[in-house]
Amino acid sequence: MTTKYFTATSLDGFIATEEDSIDWLFPLGDVNETSYPQFISDVGALAMGSSTYEWMLRHSEKVATETGSAWPYAQPTWVFSSRELPAVEGADLRFVKGDVRPVHEAMRAAAGSKNIWVVGGGDLAGQFYDAGLLDEIMVQVGSVTLGKGKPLFPRRLTRPALELLSVRQVGTGFAELHYRVPSVVG
Ligand SMILES: NC(=O)c1ccc[n+]([C@@H]2O[C@H](COP(=O)([O-])OP(=O)(O)OC[C@H]3O[C@@H](n4cnc5c(N)ncnc54)[C@H](OP(=O)(O)O)[C@@H]3O)[C@@H](O)[C@H]2O)c1
Repeated sequence: MTTKYFTATSLDGFIATEEDSIDWLFPLGDVNETSYPQFISDVGALAMGSSTYEWMLRHSEKVATETGSAWPYAQPTWVFSSRELPAVEGADLRFVKGDVRPVHEAMRAAAGSKNIWVVGGGDLAGQFYDAGLLDEIMVQVGSVTLGKGKPLFPRRLTRPALELLSVRQVGTGFAELHYRVPSVVG
């Protein structure tokens, strides 16, 4: 069981525009040609911040057209927010706030032998990293730059550096990078 931050990013390190748009992402390639289908089949629990969740709410019709359901995940999902947010009918959602450690514990229990997916955003992934709970980062680096936007991972992680496990080209639109996050002792 590992905890993975799996996301797409622009080449200059943004996962969405400042206005939370990811329209730039879809023309870059077919998600089925990436490692996503294999990845999601091994996921037992998801965590996301409220901007990511609210994107799903705003785009529920598009999501339903593409996946057959307004909420595409069968796995339980923990949504981090300090606010009260509407639920999606039929989705297994748990709204939480604050310290990621007890939430991670609950996610681990629910996921069993499967992996935990930190969907985003970058700071939430950073909170799991800060708590020593992030094992891997898998990024699809899109062949675009955004100039500014929502950051991929707003942390200074230099020593020890990430360990690059694999690199894969997906057409001309993506380079998939898979990293192990080093454990910091002490
Ligand atoms: N490129 C991709 O593949 C990809 C992947 C994932 C997401 N995205 C997009 O990227 C954007 C990410 O947005 P974002 O950077 O703002 O991140 P986010 O994690 O989606 O949302 C951040 C918000 O979540 C809440 N939050 C985070 N940690 C919390 C905690 N410990 N306790 C309570 N609340 C907490 C806070 O808002 P409140 O307390 O006010 O609710 C915070 O402002 C979204 O537009 C999303 O759609 C893109």
